[in-house]
Amino acid sequence: MSIKNSSEKYGAVAITLHWVMAIILISMVPLGKYIEGLDYYDELYQTLPQLHYSIGILAFMLLVVRLAWKVTNEKPSPLSTHKLWERKLASIVHIATYVLTIILCVTGYAMVVAEGQGAVFF
Ligand code: HEM
Repeated sequence: MSIKNSSEKYGAVAITLHWVMAIILISMVPLGKYIEGLDYYDELYQTLPQLHYSIGILAFMLLVVRLAWKVTNEKPSPLSTHKLWERKLASIVHIATYVLTIILCVTGYAMVVAEGQGAVFF
């Protein structure tokens, strides 16, 4: 498998970024819900929120790398079996995922700062 994308397939970097980010984003939802329920006397109260912030900041960094990789690499052509509406829907879902991830990271960081805390990256 080649490192870069070709006109037929995604390369190793794009595929790795895709799956690492998928795992991060999916696992951050239950982690975020769980830390919401922690109280001050819980032994994870000091560590788990910082882990959530660090992984969120990592997701944001990976998103920037991913966007840079996307604009500097060719995009594989869609399969001829894909209909026009499917391609348009896929494009809308991709853009929405980028925008919503950026919003989540920025609002999460803003909440931490508004509470007078800092988010230490790992
Ligand atoms: C990768 C993107 C992220 C996802 C998917 C995510 C997900 C979540 C979820 C599902 C919640 C619970 C919200 C609720 O139940 O109302 C939450 C809470 C929170 N997140 Fe994130 N988050 C992300 C990134 C971040 C980042 C980058 C930060 C800060 C640096 C952050 C800080 C927070 C804070 C402060 C809370 C509230 C915790 C509390 O009330 O104790 N999040 N997050």
